[in-house]
Order: sequence, then structure tokens, then C-alpha cells
Amino acid sequence: METVVSGIRSTGNLHLGNYFGAVKNFIRMQEEQNCYFFIADYHSLTTHPDPVMLRRNVRQVLAEYLACGIDPEKSTIYIQSDLPETTELYLLLNMHAYKGELERATTFKEKAKKQPDNVNAGLLTYPVLMAADILIHRATKVPVGKDQEQHLEMTRQFGNRFNRLYNVEYFPEPVAYNFGEQLVKIPGLDGSGKMGKSEAEGNAIFLADAPDVLKKKVMRAVTDGGPTEPNSEKPEAIKNLFTLMNVVSAKETVQFFDDAYNNCTVRYGDMKKQLAEDIEKFVAPLREKIEALTADEKYLNKIMDMGKEKAHASSSTTVKEVRDIMGISYR
Ligand code: TRP
Repeated sequence: METVVSGIRSTGNLHLGNYFGAVKNFIRMQEEQNCYFFIADYHSLTTHPDPVMLRRNVRQVLAEYLACGIDPEKSTIYIQSDLPETTELYLLLNMHAYKGELERATTFKEKAKKQPDNVNAGLLTYPVLMAADILIHRATKVPVGKDQEQHLEMTRQFGNRFNRLYNVEYFPEPVAYNFGEQLVKIPGLDGSGKMGKSEAEGNAIFLADAPDVLKKKVMRAVTDGGPTEPNSEKPEAIKNLFTLMNVVSAKETVQFFDDAYNNCTVRYGDMKKQLAEDIEKFVAPLREKIEALTADEKYLNKIMDMGKEKAHASSSTTVKEVRDIMGISYR
């Protein structure tokens, strides 16, 4: 069994694309591997979030992952700031992380450009904190997308550097891990690429969207004037609607609209109305679970405590061993 670690952005409210991507990945992995999933609240502090919002976001994201099927018995789900050992390892790793290499990180350069008035040390050392998150459990697998590959490479670099400096084989090399090829890519509603939070407003359907918001978004999805020749190829925006329909609707429903498209009688208004209904049917039970979980303060607290305790078992061992290796043990 391998040890898997993944960090969840605390502002990352789940949309359908996440649900059929990262979350499905997590659910599959928790059956097979020793998984640690945590909410990366420290990382979000680089942008100075409002304290009330921070609390709400962390609890919301936790509720969303639980509602989607992350099982706190099978995996360890915890809050990053609940593990002081991660912070300690971060400090120790910082001694061997160099200004030059941190400044060369693509994400740092992008963030520094985006927030030139707030290029703080936390931003610069973001990859060191991420390395600490991963190395604290001596993980070998990290389910992340392309945008995090460089951070993972830096994690390997920091781990290897530590091993070399102290002449040990302590930290294993973590590699990216996902079932990407086997998962459906969920397109957004704006007619272009995939569903994403940072895309245009209304492009993504969030699990927590209210029914009327959801419906409005689908009804506004980009379409075109409709096919003029039988059996013509579908343009991108239309293909996207069919992809979404394939995920949430009955086979006969998809077939019905596909036939209508092919003989040029399709009415996009009807199709979107049907799609909105089927998405609502799919999302409603999840939304209800999320709402029930966020309302149950005690239960969420209990889940956090449980995760903290489980994660601590592994993090305390690592920090103790790292201290010993570095000579930080004076009694
Ligand atoms: N940087 C990751 C992101 O933006 C979140 C993250 C923090 C993470 N620590 C991690 C991911 C450790 C994997 C492992 O999505």
C-alpha cells in the first residue's frame, strides 16, 4: 500500500468538473491506498483572507468533500493548521531552500505579478510548505494536476537534498498520481474548454449552487443557430452540452436530442431545460448533504478532531526522526 497526500484549497468550492475529476480520484484511491487529504488553510493565508470567510470556507470545503464520499474512516481528512509538525518541518526545510530556486517557481512569478503589493515571504516559500505537507507523511503519491507538477518537482528536490546532506535515505520521492485518462473531462457552459472556477462567470456549476442559480446558468449556456444539414458535425459548444447530458441524463434522453440534432429539428431551449432538470436531480442530494453537514457544527468538529489525531500519529514520528537526523536532540 502506498501513502498518498493531497492538499485541498480552502477556497476551492466544488463544481461538477471537480466532482467527476479530483473527487472521483480521491474516492477511488481511498479504497486502495493509505490516504491523507487535508484542507490547505495556511496556504490560503498568502492572500490575507477575512477571518470570518476563512472559517466559513474551511468548514464548507470539508463538508463538500465528505458529502461527495470522502470517508473519514477509510482516509485521513484533516485541516493543515491542525498539524503543528507540518509547520515545524516547513521551518527545517526552509534552511535548505534557496532564494533563487524559490524565485524561479512559475507560480511565484505569476502571483508576484498579480499582487505586486503583497509579495510576502509566505508566497515565496509556498512550495516549501507544500513539500512539508507531503514529506511529513513520507508520501510516495500525490494526486495533482499539471499546474502543481513544478511544486512536486521541488518537493523531490528538497527531500533528496535532505537525504544527501545528512547521508540518509529518509524521504522517498513522491510522484504525481491520478486516474486522469479514465475520467470524463467535464466541459464548462461557455462553449470553450473545461469547467473551471477561474473561467468566465456562469461557466461552472457548483454543487452548492441554489436550484434557480443552477437553472439560470444552464439556460444561458452558449449554443448556436442549430444544424442546417442532416448529420453534420457538432460544434464545440454543442458537443459540450451533449457531454454534460451524457453524464447526468438517461441514455434515451441523450439519444432523443442526438436524433433531433441529426435531423435538424433540435430545439436548444428544450434541450437545456432537460439538461438543467437532470443536473438538478443529480446535484440535489449532494447539496442537501452539504447543507446538513455544515449545519451540524458538532459533527464537523468531531471529524476534524478525528482527522487531526490520525494525521498526528504519522507527523509526530516524522518530525521526531528528522530532529534526530539533524541533531536536534540534546538530552
Ligand atoms: N498547491 C496545491 C494547489 O494549489 C494545494 C496543496 C497544498 C497541495 N499542499 C499540497 C497539493 C500538498 C498536494 C500536496 O492545488
